Amino acid sequence: MRNSSTRPVTAVILVAAGSGQRLGYGMPKAAVPLGGDTILIHALRGIVAAGVGVQICVALPAGDDGLRAQCDAFRDELADGGPLLTVVDGGATRAGSVRAGLAALMEGVEAVLVHDAARALTPEAVFHRVADALDAGAEAVIPAVAVVDTVKTVVATDGGDAAIAPELVTGTAPREELRAVQTPQGFRLATLLKAHAAAAALDPASAAAVTDDAMLVEMLGTPVYAVRGSTQSLKITTPLDLILAEGLLEGPLGARWVEG
Ligand code: C5P
Repeated sequence: MRNSSTRPVTAVILVAAGSGQRLGYGMPKAAVPLGGDTILIHALRGIVAAGVGVQICVALPAGDDGLRAQCDAFRDELADGGPLLTVVDGGATRAGSVRAGLAALMEGVEAVLVHDAARALTPEAVFHRVADALDAGAEAVIPAVAVVDTVKTVVATDGGDAAIAPELVTGTAPREELRAVQTPQGFRLATLLKAHAAAAALDPASAAAVTDDAMLVEMLGTPVYAVRGSTQSLKITTPLDLILAEGLLEGPLGARWVEG
């Protein structure tokens, strides 16, 4: 374990309760086969290998006995002194699943890493960079990578313009200031609890626009720091992502290619 007397006692909340509709497998994304296992098991192995938490709290689709059984089998694989593996029913939204995880944290946890199971191949180095920034005093820290595409803002066209194209460009974002944000996102527990409590007061449209936990912390006015993420930490969302993830696992560099 990386936790020592000088480090905050850290838990990981692994959100794995999504439907995975965009992947088109007809099953929850966490249960989708990847490299001879499932996305869930790869994500769990990555967290355990990084050694960053005294507890892993997994949010699964409510009532999914198959995924629960996978967690039970994985728990049996854990060495003595390994992290406590807790399973909870996820919520209807990602934020709801995070809150279910927060409610099941053990006594004494001081910091939390929130990780998407969909980022099943996140290198250990990314977990360590996030944990190190928390150790160094950050209240909130996210892994981020530079954006390779030029990013523009658009609005839907209406009237005569709609016959030309579905969208009209309204501006170009300065690419050097943009980052694509990944998980694990790290927080001091008190800060994350405060952020999620404030989120409960959001109107439904604003709540639906919340795509990560850091956004909620930003709304509190608390500084959020960014460390280097990794292109290997891709979010498996579409069939193409799954092909890429399989390729990374089968590639010449072996079972777990590492792009720090
Ligand atoms: O839907 P999206 O791809 O943004 O989901 C990101 C992560 O959040 C996934 O790992 C997914 O399993 C999780 N999630 C969840 N509960 C939900 C929706 C998504 O745990 N209700």
